[in-house]
Amino acid sequence: MADSSSNSSLANPFEDPLRFQRRLEPVALVIFGANGDLTMRKLLPALYRLAYERRLPAGFAVIGNSRTPMTDDAFRQKMYESVKQFLEDSAFDEDLWMEFARKLHYIAGDLNDPACYEAIKAKLAEVDQDHATGGNILYYLSTQPSYYAPVIEHLGAAGLAPKSANPFGAGYRRLVIEKPFGHDLETARTLNDVVQRVFPEQDVYRIDHYLGKETVQNVFAFRFGNGIFEPLWDRRYVNHVQITAAESIGVGGRGAFYQETGALRDMIQGHLLQIMATVAMEPSAVFEPDAVRDERAKLLRSIRIMKDSEVLANAVPGQYGPARIGGEEIKGFRQEDKVSPDAQTDTFASATFFVDNWRWAGVPFYIRSGKRLPKRVTEIAIQFNEAPHSVFSGEPLGSFGGRPNMLILRIQPEEGISLRFLSKQPGTGMRLRPVSMDFNYGTSFGARTPTAYETLLVDVMAGDSTLYTRQDMVEASWQVVRPIMEVWGNTKFDFPNYEAGSWGPRAAEEMLGRHGHQWRTP
Ligand code: BG6
Repeated sequence: MADSSSNSSLANPFEDPLRFQRRLEPVALVIFGANGDLTMRKLLPALYRLAYERRLPAGFAVIGNSRTPMTDDAFRQKMYESVKQFLEDSAFDEDLWMEFARKLHYIAGDLNDPACYEAIKAKLAEVDQDHATGGNILYYLSTQPSYYAPVIEHLGAAGLAPKSANPFGAGYRRLVIEKPFGHDLETARTLNDVVQRVFPEQDVYRIDHYLGKETVQNVFAFRFGNGIFEPLWDRRYVNHVQITAAESIGVGGRGAFYQETGALRDMIQGHLLQIMATVAMEPSAVFEPDAVRDERAKLLRSIRIMKDSEVLANAVPGQYGPARIGGEEIKGFRQEDKVSPDAQTDTFASATFFVDNWRWAGVPFYIRSGKRLPKRVTEIAIQFNEAPHSVFSGEPLGSFGGRPNMLILRIQPEEGISLRFLSKQPGTGMRLRPVSMDFNYGTSFGARTPTAYETLLVDVMAGDSTLYTRQDMVEASWQVVRPIMEVWGNTKFDFPNYEAGSWGPRAAEEMLGRHGHQWRTP
């Protein structure tokens, strides 16, 4: 791994606009919710991996906080176990861990108690001395969402936020807020009012980890780094777009949370609308945070808001029922732990959206996401129009095995891109068959891709918000899903309506059938 500090060609290495080699300033990272799932599964493995690749600044420390009493050593042991368990490959090195673990600290405390923030302040002063964190502080909110506002207010009151006197001299104060940002439009606005009172917008990083995924970023590279696709990228050539995020797992231990959330809020409001915006946005003039985010926000604001009377035809929910798969009994959602036996939660959500602008007028964007589908796969499929006329003895081109000319951007797993087209089958006759031209990330680059959290943590330490969402984007996407949430909330659906291990309810197929389309099977 190259030492980024040797990069002298950049005027300001903290602001490398192409995001290649960024030298990070020292920082203390305060994680609220340090005993939670996200910290253990994603944040600590990502931080450890950055340490392994020598990408963390030399002056670095973590202060974990949660209510559970623990010593620094007990916290380190807990993180040791989770990093070993959740690190995505075998990069674990005991010696490096010892070095990294010395930077981990812990403060137990009740987030509603001002004393907790005084203890954090004292610990920050200590780590600033011991680990030379340079007065920079990054707060990471990974608690239950109901704590977000109180924590932010307490940080302000304790003088720990930028808009208060700064006890550590110069240095930045940045705030990362995990999703969900609000539970609906109104709560998102209320939370934002609190944020804005305490942190200036430039220091606020609302996370949507899908934007940090390597392959979602590659949508930019693919669209705007090549000259041959963009001319086709509009209503004249694109017939429709399908975005799928399927998970094979159920809700696991998150039954109570998920029952109140559902797939529309959990996956579509954030992750999938962000993907849709990335696929459909206009090119920004430069690859810089506000330029890119302005275009994404503009696209989100151009998505047509459904009228209540249109919702049931254009947005279909589902909930998985029990099934027997490969000899194993799979519980239905209503039988999961901490889920009510008559829950009306959507574990599957699908919708047809239209973008009301010149580029996309009339092109349907079909979006679906669900738990307990047959496999874990996230992909974007762009279906181009058929050739206008078949010269092959009048045989409709569709008769050669489905619509040709589909471009599939595979987000995960097996990251890559495929283009389907018709080819002549070998033989004396003129038979055609769809074939596929494939690019595979792993094979082409042979390198490991960083996880979304590695990318996003480096970005926030570098002060780069390109891949973070902004309040206007958050509000625009709540606006898009609002009528769906309301109409679904007032409708009693006949759940469960799909078997665990199937591709979702029949009504989701019918939704596309009405436009003469069908979901592809990834
Ligand atoms: C989270 C959702 O934001 O994303 C989870 O809350 C979901 O329900 C997860 O499982 C999926 O993320 P990934 O990166 O595994 O596709």
